[in-house]
Amino acid sequence: MTSNFFDNITLPDPEEIFNKRSAGFAELIASDTLFNTISLTEWLKFAAKAGIPYVPSRIVANLALSSLLRFDEPEFAENPVLKEYLAVTQNVPEDHMIRWDCCSSLALKLAMDTGQGAVEAMRTLYLDDPRAFDILFEFPQETVDVHYRPWVEAAYTGTHPVEYRVYVEDDEIIGISNYYPQRDLPVNNKAVEKDITLCRNYTQKLIDTLKKDNKLPWMPRYRDAELSSTGIHFTADFILDGFGQLQFLEAGPAWKAGAHPCCFEGKPVSGVALSKNNDPIPFTG
Ligand SMILES: Nc1ncnc2c1ncn2[C@@H]1O[C@H](COP(=O)(O)OP(=O)(O)O)[C@@H](O)[C@H]1O
Ligand SMILES: [Mg+2]
Repeated sequence: MTSNFFDNITLPDPEEIFNKRSAGFAELIASDTLFNTISLTEWLKFAAKAGIPYVPSRIVANLALSSLLRFDEPEFAENPVLKEYLAVTQNVPEDHMIRWDCCSSLALKLAMDTGQGAVEAMRTLYLDDPRAFDILFEFPQETVDVHYRPWVEAAYTGTHPVEYRVYVEDDEIIGISNYYPQRDLPVNNKAVEKDITLCRNYTQKLIDTLKKDNKLPWMPRYRDAELSSTGIHFTADFILDGFGQLQFLEAGPAWKAGAHPCCFEGKPVSGVALSKNNDPIPFTG
């Protein structure tokens, strides 16, 4: 017996998906100023130019999204993109992690958020990952890079790596948060204060580099967010390695365009937030 349950459903064809997605980022394609704010490839170029320490990456594939986003169709088995995807996902070098240009895997996020450590998760990148699928669907390019990055043995405070998120709006640093609100970072602590100063300096260098190059981070969500179309808006994440060096990890959308508020949850993003349970500390100087 055959089912006719799906008879009345017409799936968009690949060209239609392609055209629909591209229409969503037409202004990015047409502009010399706008660049894709959820592209690690883009941000690492600016980090290098700004002369700040960063976790390096190697681009190992560049895959067509119109194919990847239809991974659940029988035809995908014959698609050359599948071969490329398998070649890079099955050969992640030891001590490295794999990620999309726009995000890492849900498994890695979960492992880090719950304090289990990355181990297996850092070397997996599945197509049926719901978080990655959504982010890839919004990715304002026709193809997406796949990166290998050396795994940084981070400095830990309690259960989580020492990491920070810096919030930039209208060319200004408006806030810095402890990235992992699952546990607090100490106030009045020399080491933390040093990290915060470096986060500010490094992010300022990124802002200065963008200004000099006349570049503005952008993604389609910026259209609807309450953000000026002429300002620089983004978030930048930094990780402290086990040798005490703070390194730029990645950058992404502005807070008003979807970035997680970390310890600023439920509060305005302003000053330094080291714990979700305490008021942020205003910037000095
Ligand atoms: N190369 C790396 N070395 C050490 N930790 C990493 C590395 N890449 C990612 N992580 C950890 O995994 C988390 C999630 O990875 P990330 O690349 O930021 O993905 P996403 O863009 O999805 O947030 C980071 O916040 C960090 O704690
Ligand atoms: Mg991240």
